[in-house]
Amino acid sequence: MKLRRFFIATALVITIGGLLVAQQNTSKGGVKQERFGVRDGRPVILYTLKNSHGVEVRAMNYGGIIQAIRVPDRKGNFADIVLGHDTAEGYMPNPPYIGAIVGRYANRIANGTFTLDGKTYNLPKNDGPNTLHGGTTRTFDKVMWESQPLKDKNGVQFEFLSKDGDDGFPGNLKMKVSYVLTDSNELVIDYEATTDKATPINVSQHSYFNLKGEGNGDILDHEVMINADKFTPVDKNLIPTGELRPVKGTPLDFTKPTRIGTRIDDSYEQLVLAHGYDHNFVINRKGPGMTLAARVYEPTTGRELEVSTTQPAVQFYTGNFLDGTVTGKGGHVYKRRFGFCLETQHYPDSPNHPDFPNTILKPGETFHQTTAFKFSAK
Ligand code: BGC
Repeated sequence: MKLRRFFIATALVITIGGLLVAQQNTSKGGVKQERFGVRDGRPVILYTLKNSHGVEVRAMNYGGIIQAIRVPDRKGNFADIVLGHDTAEGYMPNPPYIGAIVGRYANRIANGTFTLDGKTYNLPKNDGPNTLHGGTTRTFDKVMWESQPLKDKNGVQFEFLSKDGDDGFPGNLKMKVSYVLTDSNELVIDYEATTDKATPINVSQHSYFNLKGEGNGDILDHEVMINADKFTPVDKNLIPTGELRPVKGTPLDFTKPTRIGTRIDDSYEQLVLAHGYDHNFVINRKGPGMTLAARVYEPTTGRELEVSTTQPAVQFYTGNFLDGTVTGKGGHVYKRRFGFCLETQHYPDSPNHPDFPNTILKPGETFHQTTAFKFSAK
């Protein structure tokens, strides 16, 4: 009897849940919402932002994942230029962090530990001896976010409360991320956070781009310019040594547009250690505010991506660890270097480097960063 009641109740919940989601399957202010799967008993919602040029960005409340970005080439042919999966379940799990928001601490923290105000914190280690992208459990890439379309803009807002002690970090951290698609073909990502205890914070977006279209071979022919005269060299565990090294005279000099593949397999120690590019570049800045971080051009399609940010640095990662074990959209197998990431961020392991720009957010302060991806073709 009890079992029957349970089934009826469950059926009702599922039906009502289904109706609610079906009702949301509408366009509100240009933002379409549809059911994309289930996580922790909650519906995963896929939001589609579309602008007047037909450019489309799809993102979901699971991990804040950007599932698709559709932009035209120089002839007006549209393609999806980010790696990803056709279903929400495809991202569960998501070892390469494809499309996700990463945090509380994007990139690496050495030995999974840091000391703050005299107290030592230990984080789960998930990258050899290090903590990568915030840990293992309730990290930004693998939780359900509260979500809603923005009222006054073509966009969606995600909110997540990262609790005191989550993955070892101190303080209840209220995190907000919004994605806005403008009519000038810019995807503007805005991050805001507050906390009730001092905590390190470093948030980034982990989309893998291939401007030829996802699944369409490797990215070695893309031409990259990075607005950085310096980078932070790493040790064998990909932890910054503390040095700020000029890029001049090294294969990490992208101050002039250069094909990714030209020098990626040079015997330069930094490339050998990281199996290609996987480095934090210090953005040249004249002051605070939005500054150009990088520009990437793909010659066969003419597609171009320009990245601007308020952040101090950008991790240029060439998908060296993609190894063909992930099958993505349309059955495409994502092999080594089939995508690149430009993760705007603070420097890796900053909590253990007092001379790096500060990543400690204190109660009463507001963390605020913005990054814009601008798409064009020529
Ligand atoms: C890191 C890479 C890592 C990748 C996927 C990037 O941000 O720099 O080393 O393999 O994320 O986890």
